[in-house]
Amino acid sequence: FAESAARLLAVHRELLAGGDVPELNLGGGFGIAYTAADDPAPIGELAQRIAETVAAGCEELGIPLPVVAFEPGRSIIGTAGLTLYTVGTTKDVLVSYQDDAETAVRRYVSVDGGMSDNARPALYEAQYSARIANRVSDAEPALVRVAGKHCESGDIVVDADYLPGDVAPGDLLAVAATGAYCWSLASNYNYIGRPAVVAVRDGSARVIVRGETEEDLLARDAAYEGVKG
Ligand SMILES: Cc1ncc(COP(=O)(O)O)c(C=O)c1O
Repeated sequence: FAESAARLLAVHRELLAGGDVPELNLGGGFGIAYTAADDPAPIGELAQRIAETVAAGCEELGIPLPVVAFEPGRSIIGTAGLTLYTVGTTKDVLVSYQDDAETAVRRYVSVDGGMSDNARPALYEAQYSARIANRVSDAEPALVRVAGKHCESGDIVVDADYLPGDVAPGDLLAVAATGAYCWSLASNYNYIGRPAVVAVRDGSARVIVRGETEEDLLARDAAYEGVKG
């Protein structure tokens, strides 16, 4: 981010030659933790580094300090959202690794959603993590892959995580950090309705977007209208 700020300052200086430039917009792209493997830089530290870089760059280039604008998206809302699924079936599959020398069991956990409410794993192998949300379990952990209900080989919600080995149909599964680029990328893939969005705060909950019904899905279907009439 500091490097891109420094480079954009050079562009900013060129633009200043043509007149006033109201701001230097450094955009978004600040990361969040989707899984335990992610360790994003704290936003305060990034802001500090960028501010220092811009101040030093302006001095070096001999230009006045600009108003610096940002467009943070996921760093604001990403971790504010999670997706709740209900577990359907589970199935153990033997997988091999290290050039087929070793094998392990991967438990497929199917859920009542998937690539229509979170396209990111199917689009570009985005990683997520999951927890059982309706109960506490001290069962031995099992390596799982959470799969959606869209009948596609790429319909994965969580590629690899560990869940208590007694994960079972009917359990609620919470997938973390789905507040950004899930609802906004949601589709009716395979004619599946988009889920509701519920705002939760201080123990109270409120539906802010209702889930799509069959009526919604058929609302633009002229033939259906004809049948109804
Ligand atoms: C022009 C622009 N600004 C800001 C953002 C937000 O990015 P992020 O959510 O990664 O912070 C995007 C995302 O696509 C964008 O296209």
